[in-house]
Amino acid sequence: MTSVELGVFLPVGNGGWITSTTSPQLPATYAYNKSVTILAEEMGFDFALAMAKWRGYGGPSQHWDFTLESMSIMSGLAECTSRIGVWGTVHTMIFHPAVIAKMVAGIDEISGGRFGLNIVAGSNPADLGQMGLWQDLDHEGRYALAEEWVTVAKRLWTEERVDHDGRFYKLTDCMSNPKPKKAPPIICAGASDRGFRFTIKNCTGSFLLGSNRDDFVKTALRAKELAAEAGSDDFKTYGLFTIVPGATDKQAQERVDYYNSGVDAEALDNQTREYSMDPSLKQNTMANRFIAQGESRNSMSPAAIIGSPETIARKLADIVINGKLNGITVIVPDFIDDLKTIGIDVVQGLHDHGVQTNAYAHQHGG
Ligand SMILES: Cc1cc2nc3c(=O)[nH]c(=O)nc-3n(C[C@H](O)[C@H](O)[C@H](O)COP(=O)(O)O)c2cc1C
Repeated sequence: MTSVELGVFLPVGNGGWITSTTSPQLPATYAYNKSVTILAEEMGFDFALAMAKWRGYGGPSQHWDFTLESMSIMSGLAECTSRIGVWGTVHTMIFHPAVIAKMVAGIDEISGGRFGLNIVAGSNPADLGQMGLWQDLDHEGRYALAEEWVTVAKRLWTEERVDHDGRFYKLTDCMSNPKPKKAPPIICAGASDRGFRFTIKNCTGSFLLGSNRDDFVKTALRAKELAAEAGSDDFKTYGLFTIVPGATDKQAQERVDYYNSGVDAEALDNQTREYSMDPSLKQNTMANRFIAQGESRNSMSPAAIIGSPETIARKLADIVINGKLNGITVIVPDFIDDLKTIGIDVVQGLHDHGVQTNAYAHQHGG
């Protein structure tokens, strides 16, 4: 039996990850995300992750014009849960590592050691530039900054006083107390080879995506291969999956068709424009995914898994087993009803296909 962690990508931006006026118009509120996280915990999910985004895409759906700040939201969710991992995201370019080191120590205490940190080395010049915080670094430079950032944060979590004289940060006799009980898991979704290398060297795991089944498996195996080359055998890979369930395959496809009938082309164009501004566009894999989605006028990821719980379980199990994934992170159109379908029916189907989750064990008295 293969074992995987199961997580939910919290909809902290309005509309979730479907850019449409006919999809569920999810509110970017703490109350909604709290209901989702408590439900996920009750079903035995392993973690809830909040993204970080600062600027929306407008259009008739006002896509992501409302987004909750990741660390503060996860801090609240840490207080109102007791078992699930609470993972927050920061852009390394816009926060000093000593500021986040202390925030992490705080959420570590609130959560009793359940906090995980997702770091983003990139984004784009509009998202961070609107507040004058985009630094004019090329792709390599952004990962060099992230590398120094993580080094400083880890030192502050373990050393009493830190002196550091680097390219991006200078710390003099810097104290950071309290400390987290142990350094939190650090995850990064850098998907270029440079991104993977950075992640393998500095983090505990990698978030990854695929544009279709084969690409997913290839990318996941590539991450494991690079990790093995670097001598890291316990490096974890977490796939991010957009999933649209239905009672039957046909009903699931009808949902997708309906959401696509209301695709918000204006918001997609704004997203495409925003990511096209990145001077290192060639290397930014996420930017290229967004641009391709915009051009194809798809309201959601073109790699979405669409079907009955049985179909979804079979397709997910295939990617998990063949890509040797350690975790599944899910996006769904509706994070209450659809999440229940994933947490109960798909989890059962995964079990039947040889993929074990804590959610299954939790629901069956394990
Ligand atoms: C699961 C997942 C979560 C991500 N979260 C964020 C986020 O919160 N904010 C953000 O700006 N980018 C986010 N990204 C984008 C990546 O961090 C990264 O910038 C992108 O994959 C480009 O990597 P590259 O520069 O190595 O090509 C996420 C990607 C994935 C797959």
